[in-house]
Amino acid sequence: MTGLIAALDTTDPQRARRWATQVAPSCGMLKLGLEFYLANGAEGVRMIDDRPIFLDLKLHDIPNTVAGGVRAILPLRPEFLTLHAGGGRAMIAAARAAAETAGAARPKLLAVTVLTSLDAEALHEVGVAGGPRQQVLRLARLALDAGADGLVCSAQEIATLRDALGPNALLVVPGIRPAGSDAGDQARTMTPREAAEAGADWLVVGRPITAAPDPAAAAAAIAADLAA
Ligand code: C5P
Repeated sequence: MTGLIAALDTTDPQRARRWATQVAPSCGMLKLGLEFYLANGAEGVRMIDDRPIFLDLKLHDIPNTVAGGVRAILPLRPEFLTLHAGGGRAMIAAARAAAETAGAARPKLLAVTVLTSLDAEALHEVGVAGGPRQQVLRLARLALDAGADGLVCSAQEIATLRDALGPNALLVVPGIRPAGSDAGDQARTMTPREAAEAGADWLVVGRPITAAPDPAAAAAAIAADLAA
């Protein structure tokens, strides 16, 4: 069954804690991103212990530095950790080797292929000749081959990636909007049910939960929709 991850996007640890408690009954995991981590560090992450943690830090550096970063994060025991597939095979392999030192409790590594904020023109500008679709597939195959456990992808990419990569790759999907909710800055959204049916393993939902008048009820409604 497709699981629900709440994105707790804030620098305020008290607010994140409150959201975590509110949504914990409905979410299998809680995502903490760059803004939370840079403001609160490892101590802040330790305060959010209601559910397994997805640390969305999108690591991207030389292999030795990324491996050191992964080892530094291991004591926090995140369930998922993100890195940029564009860092290349050696970087991803080094991250995996570092993660393996945690044994069975190692974090699963999720690769980000092409940021959903980049369109064909923006990609061309940074030297990528093919379109976003081609680049997503290329980087997805590379990342899994080098040791990533799965991918963060947009809802529109789920079907293509499932076809190309088979059932084992973990697909974690943001840009989810329950029917009738505000898309905000997300350009291409899907409802939770649509994304689950397309083959997502996990859905990442932020503002439709955290900006709702009742975050607990909003998360529960999405979880119920997924369970139906
Ligand atoms: O509020 P919203 O539901 O749009 O939040 C989506 C979350 O997923 C945010 O934390 C955002 O940073 C993250 N994300 C995304 N698109 C990506 C990768 C991550 O929206 N391609």
